[in-house]
Amino acid sequence: MDPLEQPETAGPSHADVRPNAPVQGADVRADHVSLSFRGVRPAHVLDAVSLSIRPREVVALIGPNGCGKSTLLRVLGGLIPADAGHVLIDGDPVTGPDPRVGVVFQEPRLLPWLTAEENVRFPMRLAGWPKAQQAARASDLLGLVGLREHASARPGTLSGGTRQRVAIARALALQPSLLLLDEPFSALDALTRERFNAELLRLWERTGTSIVLVTHSIPEAIFLADRVVVLSPRPARVLAEITVDLPRPRRLTDLDSAVVSSLAADVRSHLVDTTDDAIAMEEARLAIPAGLPLGGAPARRHAETEPGTPAWFDPFRPEDPQ
Ligand SMILES: Nc1ncnc2c1ncn2[C@@H]1O[C@H](COP(=O)(O)OP(=O)(O)OP(=O)(O)O)[C@@H](O)[C@H]1O
Ligand SMILES: [Mg+2]
Repeated sequence: MDPLEQPETAGPSHADVRPNAPVQGADVRADHVSLSFRGVRPAHVLDAVSLSIRPREVVALIGPNGCGKSTLLRVLGGLIPADAGHVLIDGDPVTGPDPRVGVVFQEPRLLPWLTAEENVRFPMRLAGWPKAQQAARASDLLGLVGLREHASARPGTLSGGTRQRVAIARALALQPSLLLLDEPFSALDALTRERFNAELLRLWERTGTSIVLVTHSIPEAIFLADRVVVLSPRPARVLAEITVDLPRPRRLTDLDSAVVSSLAADVRSHLVDTTDDAIAMEEARLAIPAGLPLGGAPARRHAETEPGTPAWFDPFRPEDPQ
């Protein structure tokens, strides 16, 4: 049976939604967002983080391991609610998973039993798009990321980089105006990663989304972003915002320039190393107390509590401890 089988719906028309059609990039504002995880492993993670992303702007988030970057993305995408503060997209408060937001994360988390094309169609299926339009848009998106010939391949047969491209196509499925990228290329070798970054910029030029990108690489942040936001060790606070005033389109060779070196030095000067003590404290915090069930859960999670939103759809969900 076709795993995407479903009745045609009389939903809104998506005929005009084309992958190359420019979208209005989202205007995003996070205002004094704070969040603590409670339960087995309590942690104060976000401390009054304020951030604004202009339409079509690319903002890179950089900060030490465990400082709260992925958590901040989850809050921006409406996957977990903040304890205090709020996020506005184009002036509307974010109160749950938002169709204007596309997410790409470190591990592609594609559905292994579906083909590349079916994975790309999946959000459209959840959104109730008519089948013919799902197929047309999936084909266009796979073309956009250069993977049409892999349409019928299952994720297990694809390389890591190719899977990540499928994940990007999936994130673009509903034509988001905000794309959240959580270290999307960190598992790739250096050369492939550079190539993918260049491709990502071309894709951004064509789609017009606003982008928030988490990375640990200072050169990558500078190459891609209009602004680099440096976060403190947990609880994350904004330590500095550095404007990357390099002309676009950018080329990888631009990374060799003196301007880039000086920007990199600026970013580095604000980055606070996580000390060995802090790492030891974090490891102790994450140790599971005897007698307690595995897998500390956050206090509240949209992805698990919203009816109709399967838990796997939360791309930032930490893997269950083995
Ligand atoms: N669901 C959860 N329940 C409890 N604690 C959590 C949960 N998710 C994350 N944390 C904790 O919150 C802190 C921030 O995690 P987060 O994944 O946001 O950090 P990060 O900056 O993305 O780290 P990395 O650079 O390693 O990706 C960490 O201490 C993490 O252990
Ligand atoms: Mg992370």
